[in-house]
Amino acid sequence: MNNNLRSVGILGTGRCLPEKVVTNYDLEKIVDTSHDWVVSRTGIHSRRIADDNTATSDLSTEAAKIALERANITAEDLDLIIVATITPDMPFPSTACIVQSNLGAKNAAAFDLSAACSGFLYGISIADQFIKTGVYKNVLVIGAETLSKILNWNDRNTCVLFGDGAGAVVLGPTEEGSGILSTHLGADGNGAKFLNVPAGGSRMPSSVQTIEDNLHYIKMDGSEVFKFAVRVMGNAAKKALELCDLGVEDIDYFVPHQANTRIISSAAKRLKLPLEKVYVNLDAYGNMSAASIPVALDEALEKGKIKKGDNVVLVGFGGGLTWGSCVIKW
Ligand code: ACO
Repeated sequence: MNNNLRSVGILGTGRCLPEKVVTNYDLEKIVDTSHDWVVSRTGIHSRRIADDNTATSDLSTEAAKIALERANITAEDLDLIIVATITPDMPFPSTACIVQSNLGAKNAAAFDLSAACSGFLYGISIADQFIKTGVYKNVLVIGAETLSKILNWNDRNTCVLFGDGAGAVVLGPTEEGSGILSTHLGADGNGAKFLNVPAGGSRMPSSVQTIEDNLHYIKMDGSEVFKFAVRVMGNAAKKALELCDLGVEDIDYFVPHQANTRIISSAAKRLKLPLEKVYVNLDAYGNMSAASIPVALDEALEKGKIKKGDNVVLVGFGGGLTWGSCVIKW
């Protein structure tokens, strides 16, 4: 590692989840599914759903306020705001600009980042580059989604899987030898067809026909995404460890993307990690895409699962297809 580069750490974390809880039993009343099916195939028991008046920027702003307070800096100290989301408030301006205004972060540049469930780790990697090279000091990275707004509530293949929420972290310079030790990002655009929202962009602008055909909702080939996820999770974790000269035996705590307990268990098995070292909260929230990892990280910290000096590995995968991983010495 180049010794002239600054060490970059997470200075504060926060989360915001909508109050409304929707259980599998609630879903049984609207689609042909069952609590037992959803739990046995995914591990999900319930999810949080935003109300009609709540947009991604609202959840983002609340999560960010908590992260700023814990980082002990003000919004005006921020140099950059990145919001990772596939459910922006609108196509433009970016949700990050709306959050910047909500926070009064008048000195910050702001942009959104589209890498689906890997978006938060893409954001962490970008923040790391800007801070370690001295270009910026304080960067806010938010992973936030209101996926309920792009779900077809008549499609049992997708509507049982996802939930809404936001997680935020403030990154900044930290003591040498701690903080982000490595980041690794990847993509395979050949898999774009397996997980997407077909209409509403320049390929297929929204029209009465696209709405009638439900093309503005998430479409997914679950088994293809499942196979990809199982393969990529362990590999991405190993790659990030390799980049900082660590091995799987050095992992103290593992915070994976929360899509499916079977995917998480299989990754843990590949990494020979006992489940006590793995954070899982998808039973309560479902898959919150870009918000899953920062919400899980915030909860794990709050519960004292991560201690100073621990090597923490974060791994995500998602639409694109994309993946990302990162090792942090806490
Ligand atoms: N309730 C009951 N039955 C269902 C439901 C449901 N909610 N959903 C699907 N089924 C049925 C299907 O219709 C199918 O029936 P058929 O065989 O008669 O056609 C059958 O169940 C499918 O069964 P399996 O193939 O055994 O299901 P599987 O074990 O693959 O689980 C699942 C499906 C949960 C979707 C799994 O494939 C998965 O988790 N994939 C990964 C999804 C994922 O992580 N996506 C998010 C990526 S992140 C992002 O970027 C947003």
